[in-house]
Amino acid sequence: MNKKFLIFVRNFFMAKILVTGGCGYIGSHTIVDLIEHGYDVISVDNNSRSNPTILKGVELITSRKVKNYKVDLCNFDDTFAIFQENEDIIGIIHFAAYKSVGESVENPLLYFENNLTSLVNLLKCVQEFQIPHFVFSSSCTVYGNTTEMPVTENTAPKPAESPYGYTKQMSEQIISEFAKSSGTHCILLRYFNPAGAHPSAVIGEMPMGKPQNLVPAITQTAIGRIPRMMVFGTDYPTRDGSCIRDYIHVCDLANAHTLSLKYLQEEKNNGLCEVFNLGTGTGVTVLEAINAFEKTSSVKLNYEIGPHRPGDIVAIYANNDKAKNQLGWQPRFSLEDIMATAWKWEIRLKADETVFNSQAGELN
Ligand code: WQD
Repeated sequence: MNKKFLIFVRNFFMAKILVTGGCGYIGSHTIVDLIEHGYDVISVDNNSRSNPTILKGVELITSRKVKNYKVDLCNFDDTFAIFQENEDIIGIIHFAAYKSVGESVENPLLYFENNLTSLVNLLKCVQEFQIPHFVFSSSCTVYGNTTEMPVTENTAPKPAESPYGYTKQMSEQIISEFAKSSGTHCILLRYFNPAGAHPSAVIGEMPMGKPQNLVPAITQTAIGRIPRMMVFGTDYPTRDGSCIRDYIHVCDLANAHTLSLKYLQEEKNNGLCEVFNLGTGTGVTVLEAINAFEKTSSVKLNYEIGPHRPGDIVAIYANNDKAKNQLGWQPRFSLEDIMATAWKWEIRLKADETVFNSQAGELN
């Protein structure tokens, strides 16, 4: 059977998707959305910063068992073997990467080696097995400390604020050049601030150790897992002095990945490598986010105002017109929904300590 016919058959009759980082926060939520839209999914995740038990949660929600290949994408031979075993993969969604801004500053080589080696290995397999569709988990961090608000996909990126941000900028360039030579059609999704949890509270975010991000810091403070949280500065040039971000619900983010694959399968894409911003389009300050949490949960948050956090930018939020118009994407969850689902998830984690300890900070 010739390769072109095989690609046609795969594209329309056996839509198997490989999700890298499928045991992670956004990866697991995306697998749920893919399954709910009729896709067959496999995961590859070395579980160095995640736990395969999250796929039990995916099975609880979808009644579908998802196989995870516990493989490090930095090992080319092991990665290649997955494709040999799954010749019916028609698309890849690539989440697997390290993503802590702070850690990347302390250990830049760890980030360049892990995030870029894994990407190049994966793309070598995409080329060898002629996988037609590739969706990449990028980030608004590629815009750097831009002052143009809201940012559009054409906003010129500024120098990244961290080695993590540089790995995202470099990954986008690698994928863009690869798309020109390989014939694989690629999409780069630039997330703003992912937050919240699946409404079932069966899956959600599991920060490793002390939470760096705002929403898990809020919910862990409210539940008493951490005594008090710090607001990193209220003297910024914003409406209430605290930084502005665009918080996007993880389920809305997940759906954008499914829509991206559909968009590529239906050959609606313009060009070989397209970029989309995934944010709500609304900027929210840290204090407004805290207020939304307190209103939604009826819990008074214990926090103090502290100094600026190095690397924080004043404000960033999205112009999301392109994703809405071209992907047909429509964010459904509000800031209050983000807080309500994040809080419901935190309460569940507290109720089921075994889940938290085994899956979050104490990986065996
Ligand atoms: C948001 C705001 C903090 C915690 C994140 C990820 C990064 C990238 C982009 C994926 C800031 C303030 C936070 C706390 C606080 N994600 N804050 N107290 O910095 O925009 O970056 O999204 O690519 O990997 O880190 O999000 O949630 O860390 O911070 O005051 O305890 O909340 O200063 O203004 P950020 P964040």
